Amino acid sequence: MEYYNCITLFVALLIITLHFLIRNPRKSKLPPGPKPWPIIGNIHLLGSKPHRSVADLSKTYGPLMTLRLGSITTIVISSPDVAKEMFLKHDVDFASRQIPDCVWALDHAKLSMAWLPVCPKWRELRKISAIQLFTNHRLDASQGLRKKKVNELVEFVKGCCEKGLVVDIGKAAFTTALNLLSNTFFSMDLCAYDSSGSQEFKDLAWHIMEEIGRPNISDFFPLIKALDLQGVKRSISTYFSKMLEVFDKIIHKRLSDQIGSKDDVLDALLNLVKQNELTLDNVRHMLIDLFVAGTDTTSNTIEWALTELLRHPEKMTKAQAEIEQLLEKGQSRSIQESDISKLPYIQAIVKETMRLHPAAPFLIPRKATTNIELCGYWVPKNAQVWVNVWSMGRDPSVWPDFESFTPERFLESEIDIRGRDFELMPFGTGRRICPGMPLAYRMLHLMLATFLHSFNWKLDNGLSPEEVDMEEKFGVALAKVQPLQAIPFPR
Ligand code: HEM
Repeated sequence: MEYYNCITLFVALLIITLHFLIRNPRKSKLPPGPKPWPIIGNIHLLGSKPHRSVADLSKTYGPLMTLRLGSITTIVISSPDVAKEMFLKHDVDFASRQIPDCVWALDHAKLSMAWLPVCPKWRELRKISAIQLFTNHRLDASQGLRKKKVNELVEFVKGCCEKGLVVDIGKAAFTTALNLLSNTFFSMDLCAYDSSGSQEFKDLAWHIMEEIGRPNISDFFPLIKALDLQGVKRSISTYFSKMLEVFDKIIHKRLSDQIGSKDDVLDALLNLVKQNELTLDNVRHMLIDLFVAGTDTTSNTIEWALTELLRHPEKMTKAQAEIEQLLEKGQSRSIQESDISKLPYIQAIVKETMRLHPAAPFLIPRKATTNIELCGYWVPKNAQVWVNVWSMGRDPSVWPDFESFTPERFLESEIDIRGRDFELMPFGTGRRICPGMPLAYRMLHLMLATFLHSFNWKLDNGLSPEEVDMEEKFGVALAKVQPLQAIPFPR
């Protein structure tokens, strides 16, 4: 009898094991990762520059890795091959966002294009941005306003030169990016280079970016998020409210304005409100998204481009020669957006800058909306997903001599930054790709080419550019090469 019991038990165990193996061989096989500590998991491994720490960890655990951040399972993708499988085979399953607790302030997450999950409302907002905001037609119509703003930047820098003042390139670029956006959207300025009255809006955009990027204990331990221990949600509520007040005044003035249409983005959005295709709340929160997502990203990229060119003066000279040649020396016309396609070296500089210093080192965090099998591993439903584009830009199997700033590598290459190539995707890719990319592309090239055409630059802190270890000296992904001295060309 005992003999039969043993046989029965053995067969039952065999059937159960086979059942699990055959039905789902990899169900429990999460990607590898460092052993988590109790409670905090792997939070202590993130350090002050998470994109770098995570890139180092992926050298040990591979390009598809699991981290446990407090109670959140996080899957990290660090190679173009894994990204390719993720975006080509499973784009829709990875297209929703892991939402930081702070962006629930004032219900922003419920109304915002950047944070809504893939749903009809999000699709509608994306469609509006594609056909009303960032079409070539709309951007061509507003390019005169942007050119005017960039000319004002040149005048500001010239003024600094005449007074012997140094230029804080990051701040000047931030102010310009903000005004380029506000002129594209509202046909008006929102800030000035040196007026304290207009400083407030600039600070708001800056603080919102900072708060969203700040590591927040509520995001690692959602069970205690109601306590808002670091006060991040409270501060961001204040900043959102103040920013909405600014937009409300502009909207109210536009609605009560008898002068007639300005035919800009705001007019287009208000028309959609009149036709009941959008609510006024959608418009207000969409404006928060556009200003927050579009300013710091643009000015950081310009700052890094100039930093790299300061370290490589021969490349600065080459870029300036390309512009001179296009504009035919002696002519005083300034650069226009239509010149961009005729400046391959400037385009290569922008690509190389975005390869080494992507403004969003991790794409905005994604979330798996279902259990997904990826490259032989299992990504569980609701896992947070980080795509480390910073480490992909430094993948030695893709980029020879990957640490060096070599725009020339793009002169012979087809690789582009506009979401087609998984090796280089500073704007993301797939459904969730940056909708502002067409505008950002124009602003980046216009600002950089104008900076290079109008001035020569040198560091004003006594160090030669070669002596400056940028990341050590200037912080995470920010090239703080301030102050800079602009030296006008004799013309
Ligand atoms: C150098 C400039 C810029 C860079 C590097 C950049 C980069 C990015 C990245 C990486 C994402 C996330 C993509 C993803 O998850 O796959 C994103 C999303 C977004 N960007 Fe940009 N961006 C820039 C400029 C702009 C501008 C100028 C605007 C608008 C004025 C803008 C508006 C947005 C919005 C609204 C989203 C969220 C889209 C969504 O979730 O559906 N960005 N951007």
